[in-house]
Amino acid sequence: MTSRDGRTTAPGSLLIRGGRVIDPATGTDGVMDVLLSDGKVAKTGPGLDAGGGTIIEAKGLVVAPGFVDVHVHLREPGEEGKETIATGTRAAAMGGVTTVVAMPNTVPPIDTPAMIAYVLSRAAQDGVVRVRPAGCISHERKGEVMADLAGLKEAGAVAFSDDGNSVMNALLARRAMINTRILNVPYVEHAEDASLVDAGVMHEGRVSLRLGLAGRSPLAEDLIVARDLLLAEATGAHLHVAHVSSRRSLEMIREAKARGVPVTCEATPHHLVLTDEAVGEFDTSAKVLPPLRSEEHRLALIAAVKDGTVDVIASDHAPHGPLEKEVEFAQAASGMVGLETMLPLALEVLVRSGAMDLPGLVRLLSSAPARLFHLAGGTLAAGSPADVTVFDPELAWTVDPRAFSSKGRNTPFAGRKVRGRAVDVIVGGRIVVRDGGLV
Ligand code: DOR
Ligand code: ZN
Repeated sequence: MTSRDGRTTAPGSLLIRGGRVIDPATGTDGVMDVLLSDGKVAKTGPGLDAGGGTIIEAKGLVVAPGFVDVHVHLREPGEEGKETIATGTRAAAMGGVTTVVAMPNTVPPIDTPAMIAYVLSRAAQDGVVRVRPAGCISHERKGEVMADLAGLKEAGAVAFSDDGNSVMNALLARRAMINTRILNVPYVEHAEDASLVDAGVMHEGRVSLRLGLAGRSPLAEDLIVARDLLLAEATGAHLHVAHVSSRRSLEMIREAKARGVPVTCEATPHHLVLTDEAVGEFDTSAKVLPPLRSEEHRLALIAAVKDGTVDVIASDHAPHGPLEKEVEFAQAASGMVGLETMLPLALEVLVRSGAMDLPGLVRLLSSAPARLFHLAGGTLAAGSPADVTVFDPELAWTVDPRAFSSKGRNTPFAGRKVRGRAVDVIVGGRIVVRDGGLV
């Protein structure tokens, strides 16, 4: 059987035996077995019979629903030198991610039903995890004319975003929200007021002053978040704020949620772990949008994950090549790869720090994003897709970009000693990563 995201499901059965099974969607946390059969979860419980199928021993490992990353740049079509669906989905698998929402700021952008169909057909051919495309909000992602949102959804778009830019025109933002509300699809905003950021290339603060670089104030994010919260309240649209980085934005989102505004948001591992100090001496691998901010903002982000203001962790995996990164800081492209470091960084900053427990993190990586973006998966309940991530939360390794499955090497985490890694990854009942290596 081939599903909409192009995955074929594996016939036969697979038993994952004796791991700590964590399924936040069903409140499961205990040592038991998971039986997969014909591409679905058949059963979860102690002492299950493999029925003659393959057995994966998971003793000492965590068995979780496959991770769902709602913010990934696969760069295909148009920038295949940076990443392809083949390499990006392999990077996802290595990071324990079994479903990616592919951002539409490709070249050309994904702004028509035919482009959605193209991505889905490429994904069916080359992908090793599920690819669910997001469509543009505006034609050519120019922020002027609304794209055919209904047609995009019909073709398979699971979210809408002009990511990379904010929708600066409030009339367009409002119209798009009225439409996304009717279509019941999240409106995803990259919140940075283009007029306020001007020529800023990093967070505006002590570090930008010291380096003599033009800064981007967090006010740029706050203005768009404030506007969008009002628009979401008025239209009833599901607003999802991508990669929140500012303390004040988080306060506004928290307050809006308390009033029942339909808003959710995501945090990236890099905004949780790093500050603008990571730019160091003009290190372009730490150049990202929105920018890495000061410690005050980083701590506010961790607190917001802890109290539930932040709904999901997403990588914002943004591969770039040496041509875009080995240049002057101000000229360098923004973005860093993130799929293959998301799990260990999140474990470090959220779980080992004591901010939350392991089931809490698994929820942010799997059940919460699947539910908010209306995607199948994110649970090990019987009958669900057989998407499973088996990981070792303690496995120690050193980040080496040359070993990435992604084509992107642009990470500020090179050389960092981390703990936690996907060991076995299963998509639709098929093993795509076994013992830490691609199958
Ligand atoms: O740093 C970023 N890079 N932020 C974005 O929003 C877009 C992304 C990219 O596409 O490179
Ligand atoms: Zn963005």
